[in-house]
Amino acid sequence: MSDAISEPILHPLPALQVLAEYLEVQARSGKSRVFMRPEAREALREICRMKPGRAHRAAPASKPHASPVSSTPPATEQGAVVSLDAKSASVVVTRSVLAPVRSVSVPTLPQTPPLSREERMAALDALAKRAADSPAAKALGTLRERMVFSTGDPEAGLMLVGEAPGAQEEQMGEPFVGPAGQLLDRILKAMGLERSAVYISNVCKFRPSTSADQGTKNRKPTLPEMLSCLEYVHEELAIVRPRAIVALGATAAEGLLQRPVTVGSVRGRWLDCRGVPLMVTYHPSYLLHREADGPVAAQAEKRKCWEDMLKVMEQMGLPVSAKHQAYFLPKS
Ligand code: URA
Repeated sequence: MSDAISEPILHPLPALQVLAEYLEVQARSGKSRVFMRPEAREALREICRMKPGRAHRAAPASKPHASPVSSTPPATEQGAVVSLDAKSASVVVTRSVLAPVRSVSVPTLPQTPPLSREERMAALDALAKRAADSPAAKALGTLRERMVFSTGDPEAGLMLVGEAPGAQEEQMGEPFVGPAGQLLDRILKAMGLERSAVYISNVCKFRPSTSADQGTKNRKPTLPEMLSCLEYVHEELAIVRPRAIVALGATAAEGLLQRPVTVGSVRGRWLDCRGVPLMVTYHPSYLLHREADGPVAAQAEKRKCWEDMLKVMEQMGLPVSAKHQAYFLPKS
C-alpha cells in the first residue's frame, strides 16, 4: 500500500465505512459477534444521532487527540481494531491500527474475472441508476437533484476523476463539459488520447448547492458530500478496472484518499487507490485561473501538470516523444 493512510480519520463516514467493511470480513469468516467497549458503543450511538454537517466539528487532526476510548483497544484475531472516540463522536483509526484493517478489510479490486464490454456497460448503467437515488447523498440535503455520472470508455485503461459537476455539467448530464472540460480534452489530446478513449468521472455525483438562486454558481463538494458518493466511485473502479487513475485537484484527491492533501505535496508520484496507481495533479480550473497571473506563472503550473501527465503516459505505455518532453518548458 502507499502512504495514503497516515492521518487519524476524524470524520465519522470513512470511519463507519471501515467499521462496516471490517464487520463484513468478520461475518464472511463465520463470526457472528464482535467485542465493543461500552464507550465505543456510546460513540457509535452518538454518530448515529449526528446531523449532517456535525462532522466538521470533529477535533482538528493537528491537535493531540483526546485518548481514544481505550489506550489499548481490543484487537481481534486478525489484529484489526476499531476504536471510537466518544468525545469527538468519531471513530479514531490511527496508522498502527488502520494498516491491518486496511489489509484485511479494504481489498484492492475484487478478484473476479474482468467483465465484457457489454457487461461493463450494463453494470455502469445499473450503478448510475442507483447513484441517482443515493440515500446518503439525498440525506445530506446539500446536493442538487440531478445526478451526473460519468462519460467515456468502460474498458479504458485510464480513469480521470474530478470533484463534482458544475452548472454546465448538470445541464448536459456529463462530467467535464465546461471550460475545465475543454482544457482537459486538450491535455488528453496532447497525450495522444481522445476523450472517448478514457473514463471520466467525479467523486461527487451531484452539483453542490449554494442558494435557491444559485444560477451558474458552483462550489467544491465537502468531504461528507464526496463520501456520500464514494461507494459508487469504488464500484466504478471495480467495473472499469483502469490501469491508472488521475485525480484532478486536491478535492478529488481528498475524496479518493479520504485524507487532507495539497496537490503540491502529493503530485508527481504514484499513490495507491484500492490497488490502482493514482496520480494527483492540478485541476484544469486551477490552471485556467492561473492564467490571470500572467503567462509565465500559468506556464509554470501547466508544466507541472504536464510532467504528471508524462508519468501517466509512461505508465500507460503511450509513446513519449522529445516534443512531448518539451511541452510548457520555458523557451530559452
Ligand atoms: N470540475 C469537476 O471537477 N468536474 C466536472 O465535471 C466539471 C468541473
